Amino acid sequence: MSANILVTGGAGFIGSNFVLGERSRKNRIVNLDLLTYAGNLLNLSDLSGDPDHIFVQGDIGDRALVRKLLSDYQPEAVVNFAAESHVDRSIDSPESFIQTNIVGAFHLLEEALSFWKGLAADRRARFRFLHVSTDEVYGSLGPEDPAFTEKTPYAPNSPYSASKAASDHLVRAYYHTFGLPTMITNCSNNYGPRQFPEKLTPLTVLNAIEGHPLPVYGDGQNIRDWLFVDDHCEALRVVLAKGEAGKTYNIGGSCEKTNIEIVNTLCSLLDEMAPRSVCAPYSSLITFVKDRPGHDRRYAVDCSRIERELGWRPGETFESGMRKTIRWYLDNTHWVQSVKSGAYRDWIARQYGAAEENSAALAPQSIVGKLQSAT
Ligand code: NAD
Ligand code: DAU
Repeated sequence: MSANILVTGGAGFIGSNFVLGERSRKNRIVNLDLLTYAGNLLNLSDLSGDPDHIFVQGDIGDRALVRKLLSDYQPEAVVNFAAESHVDRSIDSPESFIQTNIVGAFHLLEEALSFWKGLAADRRARFRFLHVSTDEVYGSLGPEDPAFTEKTPYAPNSPYSASKAASDHLVRAYYHTFGLPTMITNCSNNYGPRQFPEKLTPLTVLNAIEGHPLPVYGDGQNIRDWLFVDDHCEALRVVLAKGEAGKTYNIGGSCEKTNIEIVNTLCSLLDEMAPRSVCAPYSSLITFVKDRPGHDRRYAVDCSRIERELGWRPGETFESGMRKTIRWYLDNTHWVQSVKSGAYRDWIARQYGAAEENSAALAPQSIVGKLQSAT
């Protein structure tokens, strides 16, 4: 039987991949997205003319709009992807993170609660509010620490992760206090098609093919746990279908890599898939730059609960997922050009222009390059 879902933030990276997957499964999607710099309707171009993908530009904090969408479309679930998602931007300018990730999530919860209370008992029992969150709420691990479990205490270190932690607490409270059937997922770093090129993977691929420096923060030894985006979306589907209200599920790739390993892997794959015309490998573009303030050293996710209780496992290997990802960016030049708006250029100039002053101290002499904008 097909489902009817209100997705928020469905024009962003993970949200759009989720929406495309849901439409291929014939589920009707109402997609509420503010279309910030990170939201892009081109991500959804495969759905143009699709009557069962209803796109609405708007804010999750606009209660009247959310109320109307819930009332008009009567969804069986809300899946909340909408957020400000980039750690560096939260350091540069945290205000919008507080507004969307905390205040916006609160308004969305309030409207979902009021809608849910008005449902008949059988629909109330089936309804789910799935909040898509991050492993960053757990803070940073030492080299020998065990991976984050659902019982790891929250210790967010950036304005981004603090805002996500605050929303997680609100979501949890709406279950415990009001009975709203919420679930939270805390996922590790995603990579894949349609990711805005401020994040490490697409930034590296796009800078590399344009011959620009590949900025690596600090010593490049920070560790993240990498998961292909379709595997995350599949996990969310499994949680929606079989997850228990009031529960949290960790999601991860069990694939810990240092940042320098990621960048080197992307460079080697690009050497094979899109060889440079100049006689130097892509890795010669690697440039160590000033570290991110408060940079978390290591994330690792223990996803044994979702594996054991719901039977989910990642389908993609790191190598196959990275290959698919690079292929997508190489093939979708129209998308690549479209995201490089003036606002994107300003961000790159501000972020990496400032880092340039400190790059020489950290970079081996041979690879200090002039950081430049991505155009
Ligand atoms: P993204 O930045 O690519 O997309 C966010 C989307 O939300 C954009 O389309 C944007 O327009 C929309 N949006 C922002 N503010 C809004 C508002 N007030 N109302 C409605 N829409 C709004 O982010 P992403 O990487 O796709 O992440 C999606 C969610 O998954 C986020 O909540 C993020 O915290 C979480 N997450 C991301 C990762 C990752 O590696 N990218 C990992 C774990 C969890
Ligand atoms: O762990 C899940 C989180 O993963 C999500 O909640 C966030 O929304 C998502 O953005 C991501 O956060 P990170 O900060 O880990 O992702 P980012 O791609 O910004 O950086 C990955 C690592 O690479 C991090 O250690 C910082 C480093 N980095 C990043 C950029 C942009 C660099 O070395 N150079 C760069 O230019």
